[in-house]
This record gives sequence, structure tokens and C-alpha cells, in this order.
Amino acid sequence: MDSKLKGRVAVITGGASGLGRASAERFAAEGADLVLADLNARAGEETAAAIAAETGRQVEFVALDVTDEDQTEALMRHAVDAFGRLDVVLAAAGVSSAGYVSGQVTVRIDDPETNYLINKPAADWRRVLDINLTGVMLTARAAAQAMIGLGNGGSIISIASVAGRVPLPGAAEYCVSKAGVIMLTQVLARELADHGIRVNAIGPGFIETPMTAGIRQDPEGLEMVMAMTPLQRFGQPSEIASTALFLASDESSYFTGQTLFPSGGINVG
Ligand SMILES: NC(=O)c1ccc[n+]([C@@H]2O[C@H](COP(=O)([O-])OP(=O)(O)OC[C@H]3O[C@@H](n4cnc5c(N)ncnc54)[C@H](O)[C@@H]3O)[C@@H](O)[C@H]2O)c1
Repeated sequence: MDSKLKGRVAVITGGASGLGRASAERFAAEGADLVLADLNARAGEETAAAIAAETGRQVEFVALDVTDEDQTEALMRHAVDAFGRLDVVLAAAGVSSAGYVSGQVTVRIDDPETNYLINKPAADWRRVLDINLTGVMLTARAAAQAMIGLGNGGSIISIASVAGRVPLPGAAEYCVSKAGVIMLTQVLARELADHGIRVNAIGPGFIETPMTAGIRQDPEGLEMVMAMTPLQRFGQPSEIASTALFLASDESSYFTGQTLFPSGGINVG
């Protein structure tokens, strides 16, 4: 196995499932020690133990809600106290809708009666923006503060979505939260460049994780994804982990402020 992250320390929010977990597995296989963080403590503890056993790396778990400023700051302190360094922070915690709980199969998102913005409670909008956009901002800000304190630069990576570029009827708050992450990435890249901190995002298409289980089980959902996706398949979590590894490692040393789209070609025009 290569060791593109040998000696590095990475924090991953949303590390208990899907894209966060797949990235954690890849980072550890490439030599990084990890702090995983997630709302789901049981799955998080289990994931951390499994990755440590598989790779021999040190993998810690911290339970947190990314919408809580104190908790995101405590997470970064935990990493610095445990390992004495902080090289990579991947913000992968997120939800597809206000009612989404990771691992539960969600219903269709494009029913105009319930999901179009004119019919949707404002509370749904606020909840998704709070987790997907403010949660990423709080994670990135706490990461940057810790990295500046250590003085060694670093790489901050957020999971946005192709939905930040492609309007999906019925998913307004999700699309807007992800468009926000893409712009947040650009602004932070400029603000943090002088500290040697690179800030980039990943904009996946439809990937096989618990988040897309509902779409994959629904013939109309499947048809919609295939019609949108030139490569005619869902992506694998490992394909997003590859992108995260690239952005985390020195291989991407001249990238900052960018969003890379492993999307099967969805947004190519
Ligand atoms: N799966 C896809 O097709 C896809 C496509 C584009 C973008 N994304 C984005 O990738 C990210 C990861 O999604 P996934 O597919 O791995 O989903 P997932 O449900 O498998 O994993 C999300 C993880 O985030 C955690 N989480 C949710 N809310 C949290 C909170 N407030 N605080 C801390 N942890 C929280 C969950 O417990 C879960 O472990 C999300 O931001 C999602 O929007 C996913």
C-alpha cells in the first residue's frame, strides 16, 4: 500500500457512514491517524475500531453535532491534544433533507405537494442550511483556527454536491446549501492562503451510500439518475475517497478554492 498520508493527522466529520467512512478507510490505509466525528456515536465507535484493526493506525472517535460551535472547536482541540498536529480536515457530515436520518430509507424528494419550496415549511429550509452549510462553516473555521495555531498549514476539504450546480426540483434547500459550500470554499481559500491552508470541495453525483438508498429502490428515481448521468451508473464511495485522498495529499499542492466533481459527468452541460 502507498503512504501518501504517512505521519499525517486527519479529522473527518460524518465519519460513521457513507463518504466520510470510505474516506476514513482510505486515509488510514495511506498512513494517516484519524479522529472521526459523527452524531451517531454507536456507528462512529464501531467504524473507528474497525479501521484501527484493519490498518493498525490510531483512530479515535468523538461524538458531535456539527451545528454546535463549541463541539466543533472541542473536536479540533481533541485532535491536537491527542496527536500534536492537524493536517487534514474533511467535512463530510450532511443530510439530504430536514427529515433525513442516516441509514433510513427516504421517500421521493420531487413531489410538488410536499417538496416544492412554495409548500415546504421554512423550518425544513433552516435545518438543512444549519447542518449542510453552517455545519461545514463551523467545522472549517475551527479547523483553520487550530491549523493556524500549529503553524504548519493544512488541507480543508468539504463535501458539497453536484446539486450545488444543478437545480433539483423538490430539493431547493439541499441545492442552496451545497452551492453555499462551493462559495464558502472559494472565500476561505482566499482568506487562508497566507497561512498555507488549502481549501477545496468535492461535488459528487449520485453515490451508493445510505443517503441514496431510497432513490436506488425506486424505479422512477433510478430512471432520473440514469437520464442525468452520462456514465450510466451510481458512483462508489471509494471513488469519492480517491478524490478526497488527492485533495488531502501533496498531489494537489497547487489546488485551492476548487470544487472537483466526481459526478459521472452530470454537470458537463
Ligand atoms: N451519497 C450521495 O450521492 C451524495 C452526493 C453528493 C453529496 N453527498 C454529500 O456527502 C456527504 C455525506 O453523505 P453520505 O452519502 O455519506 O450520507 P450518510 O448518511 O451515509 O452519512 C452522513 C453522516 O453524517 C452524519 N451526520 C448527519 N448530521 C450530522 C450532524 N448534525 N452532526 C454530525 N454528524 C452528522 C450522519 O450520522 C452520517 O454518519 C453529505 O454532505 C452529502 O450531502 C452525498
